[in-house]
Formats: sequence, structure tokens, C-alpha cells
Amino acid sequence: MASLGVNIDHIANVRQARRTVEPDPVSYALLAELGGADGITVHLREDRRHIQDRDVELLRATVRSRLNLEMAATAEMVAIALRLRPDMVTLVPEQRQEVTTEGGLDVVSQAGVLAELVGRLQAAGIGVSLFVDADPAQLDACCATGSRWVELHTGRYAEAEWSQQPQQLARLIEGTAIARSLGLRVNAGHGLTYQNVEPIAAIEGMEELNIGHTIVARALAVGLETAVRQMKALVQNPRRDPLFGQRP
Ligand code: PXP
Repeated sequence: MASLGVNIDHIANVRQARRTVEPDPVSYALLAELGGADGITVHLREDRRHIQDRDVELLRATVRSRLNLEMAATAEMVAIALRLRPDMVTLVPEQRQEVTTEGGLDVVSQAGVLAELVGRLQAAGIGVSLFVDADPAQLDACCATGSRWVELHTGRYAEAEWSQQPQQLARLIEGTAIARSLGLRVNAGHGLTYQNVEPIAAIEGMEELNIGHTIVARALAVGLETAVRQMKALVQNPRRDPLFGQRP
């Protein structure tokens, strides 16, 4: 059964829209945990557009589930991670102009640098996950870095036309199987919604889904605790007969 990591970056987006003190993502992390979040994820970006250093420090002290720090593979971020010691670091590519993380990491072309960073973080007792596309060459390279986890990018699946979704789902199922055969543990995320999450949650060997936007969007209507509880129910007990590909 997959677990649920709740990404609360959007709470900080609302705060930063006014550069004020509310809403405070630290308080909302508690509400997400009350709703059943198995982990809290935040992305500390180089440009600090949403989550701030102070948020990560307070979350480290208050999160009772697991804290997953998404970050770019830079010296600045590695120093912060080594100081704050989140339970997990997820390394992601970062570009200044993007609205959100766009693609997976190209681990193949930077395997040496990443292996060094993964080694330093793991030596400090921090789990490391690499955010990659479900591509066999990338998964091989992830394994070579010594990382124990990957997070498979579900963006292409989430954005696919209904008729293309089964093909994208098949890529993720195969990617999960390949990663596990290499000894890697598998998470997934990006673009998942209440409508499309179940087939991903049902993938054999899938351990955790990291979900943000759709939960925060629903929270505006029903509150964060309820929105998390509703997503957790789908993640824990997904239907195994997805309807996609059958829409008229
Ligand atoms: N996983 C990673 C690596 C991400 O960068 C993001 C977005 O910050 C997510 C998961 C969550 O994506 P979404 O907000 O679309 O649910």
C-alpha cells in the first residue's frame, strides 16, 4: 500500500503573494498530518519563491511524520540539508523561469557529481531520492550513484490525453519494475489529482506518492485536513479497474 507525502509549497505561494506571514505552511503541515499525511514535502528553491529557510527550520522541529526536502543539487542546498537533516532529500532539476519542476533529473550526464552528493547526504543519515523520468538509462544511472530511492516523474501521465494515458501508465509500471529490480525503492509524483491518482497508487511496489497542487486546491473548498484525508483514502485503497482510455 502506497503512502502519501503532502507537498505544501502552495501554502507558501499564497503567503509570498503578499510577502506577509499568513498562511503559515508550518501550521498547515500539522493539519496535513492530522488528515493522515505520511510525510510533508517542501521544495526550498534557490530563488526562495515560496518556501523560506525559516519554514524548513521550523518544519524540521515540528513535523512528526517525515520531512522530505526537495532541492537542487547545489552546494548551498547540500549545506542546508546537512545542517537541518530532513528525513529525505529529493534532488530535482531547477530552472529559474519554470512555473514548477518541469522534467526529471538528467542523472546519466551528471552521475559523478550526483554520486558524490548522494554519498555525503547518506553518510549523514539522510535518505536520498532522485526525481527522474521512468527511463531505463536514467534508472541505471540512479543506481550507479548509490542512491536508494527514485521518485518517478508522473507529469507525462498526468498531462496525457485520455487515449494516451494507458501508454504512459505502462511506462511507469515498467519503470517501477526496473527500478526495483535494480534494488531501488520507488516513489512518484507531479501532476497527480483526485481523478488520476488511483492507477499510480495501485502500481506494484510503489511506496509513496508526493502530491501538492490538487490537495491545496481542494483544501480551499473543504479544508486541508479533509482534502488530505480524501486523497489518502484513494492512495491507500485505489480501484484496480481504471476507466481511462474508455472515455467517449
Ligand atoms: N514531486 C516533485 C519532485 C515535485 O517537484 C512536485 C512539485 O513541486 C511534486 C512532486 C508535486 O507535484 P504537484 O504539486 O503537481 O502535485
